Amino acid sequence: MNTPRVQPGIMEIAPYVGGASAVDGAKRTIKLSSNESALGPSRLASAAYGNLAEQLHRYPDGDCTELRQAIAKTFSLDAAGIVCGAGSDEIISLLCQAYAGPGDEVLYSEHGFLMYPISAKAVGATPVTAPETELTTDVDALLGAVTDKTRILFVANPNNPTGTYIPASELQRLRNGLRDDVLLVIDAAYAEYVSREDYGDGAALVEAHDNVVMTRTFSKIYGLGGMRLGWGYMSTNIAEVLHRVRGPFNVSAAAQAAGTAAVRDKTFTANVRAHNDKWLPWTRGKLIGLGLRVTDSVGNFLLVCFQNRPDHGAEAADAFLRGEGIIVRRMAGYGLPDCLRITIGTRGEMESVVECMSRFLGRNS
Ligand SMILES: Cc1ncc(COP(=O)(O)O)c(C=O)c1O
Repeated sequence: MNTPRVQPGIMEIAPYVGGASAVDGAKRTIKLSSNESALGPSRLASAAYGNLAEQLHRYPDGDCTELRQAIAKTFSLDAAGIVCGAGSDEIISLLCQAYAGPGDEVLYSEHGFLMYPISAKAVGATPVTAPETELTTDVDALLGAVTDKTRILFVANPNNPTGTYIPASELQRLRNGLRDDVLLVIDAAYAEYVSREDYGDGAALVEAHDNVVMTRTFSKIYGLGGMRLGWGYMSTNIAEVLHRVRGPFNVSAAAQAAGTAAVRDKTFTANVRAHNDKWLPWTRGKLIGLGLRVTDSVGNFLLVCFQNRPDHGAEAADAFLRGEGIIVRRMAGYGLPDCLRITIGTRGEMESVVECMSRFLGRNS
């Protein structure tokens, strides 16, 4: 039978499975599976969204003018180099559409974000991974994996799901070791959470080089995952390319309004960061105290590894937590079957996680 033919690579994609949000029959649900903000969205962002209710018949501003200006002002960037998308996922996918195709390689690190191979395969390109060292991006391994077919190199910094990062000097070394025709995409989805002095989000590299893009999201510290809003910062040459391939109205009016208010609400962002600064190390310390291996995450989540304990591995822990209404993320899809990723939630949620994990492991917290 003759049927429409799917493009090469597409049927090889393992569809992305988002974090679950409900547990059947549980008395309570604590959702810590998608690295969403512990404190929800800013009230100003919610109000801006609500104010649009009577304007839903209007198309959005296709250039996201006010939003791009608000982002540029907050981060001291050039608005002309900012391209907005329906989540940073869309920017990742547009970059693959524009810069990779059949026969090309898209490189990323071993436990890198799953949207990189998905977006690469969607355009017929071949995803290639380089090993990490101690669950951390390894610049030499990435440079060693570059071939003459490499077109894009994605580095999430900090990385999801490991939460680890490489310092700005290492990112610079990565860029210096790359050919100028390879696009280096620095995915800084969790940048707002990082307080280490040697960290850099990648904006300076974008401004110094024509082959570097930084991507950011409103889904994490800004608490707008449901709005689908992200952005990239790049040379105006690359921005011109993405403006050609993106949909003319790819960011909804609601997302633009909420995002503009959110990025201007610096007090709220500082509160979310302060909350994370307290509960990330607290939770990590407690879980390490229970004998678990936990990466030195600088994001709003922890990667917790069970070191193949008989009957007390990641699968059993996940089932136990679910029984208590706590939803975390299994990591088999990232090549880490013995680990769970746990988002930092509210104080009460973190106390529940530690209390349940301690019961699971048979110790007192
Ligand atoms: C490293 C990384 N990049 C990008 C994204 C996608 O974010 P968005 O919601 O903006 O599409 C995520 C979401 O989890 C992420 O962890």
